[in-house]
Amino acid sequence: MSFDTTAHNRLMNHFDNHESVWLFGYGSLIWKADFDYLERRPASIRGWTRRFWQGSHDHRGTLEAPGRVVTLVRDPDAVCHGMAYRIAPSVFEPLDVREKNGYLRVVTDMTFDDGSRAEGVVYLARKDNAAWLGPAPEAEIARQIAVSHGPSGPNRDYLLNLAAALRELEFDDPHVFSLERELLAMEAIY
Ligand code: SIN
Repeated sequence: MSFDTTAHNRLMNHFDNHESVWLFGYGSLIWKADFDYLERRPASIRGWTRRFWQGSHDHRGTLEAPGRVVTLVRDPDAVCHGMAYRIAPSVFEPLDVREKNGYLRVVTDMTFDDGSRAEGVVYLARKDNAAWLGPAPEAEIARQIAVSHGPSGPNRDYLLNLAAALRELEFDDPHVFSLERELLAMEAIY
């Protein structure tokens, strides 16, 4: 899978002819909703867990020095909490560009806070994409985040904004909160 997934995502036709589509956001899409949406609701998806295992060459790092951002990896027992947005299908156009560094639109079931459910879309970066970095010790991930910058700003802001948004929504995420602790501890030393 090449670095730029825009063209691939344009071929996704599962929701053609729908007036609106639910989009599940679990990373920057939780705290940076700079796109038009009709409605938003906290939601979760089952069987996936959030990990800082995806490289960012276009937003929070560069080709030479990629940052780290989140993707979802399979975990049958996990529930990933995030924010769902009901959007017009035309909004996928700018979103495909924003999420072009390895993320693919995938159909998912999501559950809202009141227990009701909907089918929608999540942007997933799989292991076979060119920007995949994979697992590493948390101290190493935090160090990489601490030093990375890209066109959208410092990588640390991505992590801290995500942690703050999850805290505000009262969602626990041990991986994110532990990286936040590591990062802040590192920054306190230097
Ligand atoms: C998402 O937020 O749902 C996808 C990953 C990202 O853009 O940070």
